[in-house]
Amino acid sequence: MATFPTSGTIRRRTASPLLALPSGEYYASATPTRMQGADRVNPERSYASHREYETGLVSQAALPACYTAPESVDAWRHDRLLRLVEPILQCYPKSDWMTVGDGQFGADAHSLLARGHRAVATSLTDDSLAIAHGKGWISEYHAENAEALSLADDSFDFVLCKHAYHHFPRPALAFYEMLRVCRVAAVLIEPVEAAPRPLDVGRTLAKRVLRGDTQAEFEPLGNFVYRLSVREVFKMMAALSGTAIAVKEFNDCWLPRYSAAPAHGSLGAAATRLGIWAQDVLSRLRLMNFGLAAFVVFKAEPSAPMRTALHEAGFRTIPIPRNPYLTPS
Ligand SMILES: C[S@@+](CC[C@H](N)C(=O)[O-])C[C@H]1O[C@@H](n2cnc3c(N)ncnc32)[C@H](O)[C@@H]1O
Repeated sequence: MATFPTSGTIRRRTASPLLALPSGEYYASATPTRMQGADRVNPERSYASHREYETGLVSQAALPACYTAPESVDAWRHDRLLRLVEPILQCYPKSDWMTVGDGQFGADAHSLLARGHRAVATSLTDDSLAIAHGKGWISEYHAENAEALSLADDSFDFVLCKHAYHHFPRPALAFYEMLRVCRVAAVLIEPVEAAPRPLDVGRTLAKRVLRGDTQAEFEPLGNFVYRLSVREVFKMMAALSGTAIAVKEFNDCWLPRYSAAPAHGSLGAAATRLGIWAQDVLSRLRLMNFGLAAFVVFKAEPSAPMRTALHEAGFRTIPIPRNPYLTPS
């Protein structure tokens, strides 16, 4: 069964060039310091409810569609998101990846493995990952808190975080942790937000009617929902004197009643594609914001082939300007 520190364990590690605490000796504790708002935020509560959520998935044997119904609309929707990494896989044909927040039986790592790459699945607990490993769906896994990874700097070529960042209680810590442990880039596939556009209210209403969503800002597990924005990622990289980010905005359409329908030739498939198409049209007309985006956050200057592959796949590359007040040491 899963083992996970029950209290905010401070882990000893090599100080990272990306983020060092003033004390120098310890890095990224799971318990906030007073400066991080210890008297106001309680990340342990978030960790506890997410641990419970993952354990619940196991006890209910709630397997993701990629394992149980690979031909379904639900599996197609998830695979559509994971296909966003394909330009990267083309440029790095034998890359190694770590997934974070992959607590739905390591489905993200499974997808990378199926595409011929090494992938270590991690999540807050290893409950569902151990089962996925037992079934041969993933090859390597361990429990990791994205906000305090126990891995050494530069351990993997890439880190993938899909649909998980917005669930972390202090996601900025996770952002810098992911960058610390990767060599080339961190990839985030996440909900996004931007200044409201006229029809955004329509999307909120549709979610309420079709899915029963009553809250947009907070999730039932108790977290604030940290949707990313392009500007926010840009700023987090500017703080590190980063080189560039690549972004592709897109839409998804989750209609729970059609999740299990065949991904091709069914009413559910048509309704889902129509929902995506309609949102895409409205987003391009600037009447509605895109709901999701894939961010490739580069640790070093992206190569020319990488830029080309991403551009051909619909990503735009945003250079991070040099800070004129900092001289190279
Ligand atoms: C919505 S699921 C996404 C699972 C998978 N990435 C996918 O796209 O299907 C979010 C996952 O993040 C995990 N999680 C939440 N907080 C975490 C944290 N601090 N560190 C690592 N994983 C966390 C949750 O337990 C859950 O398994």
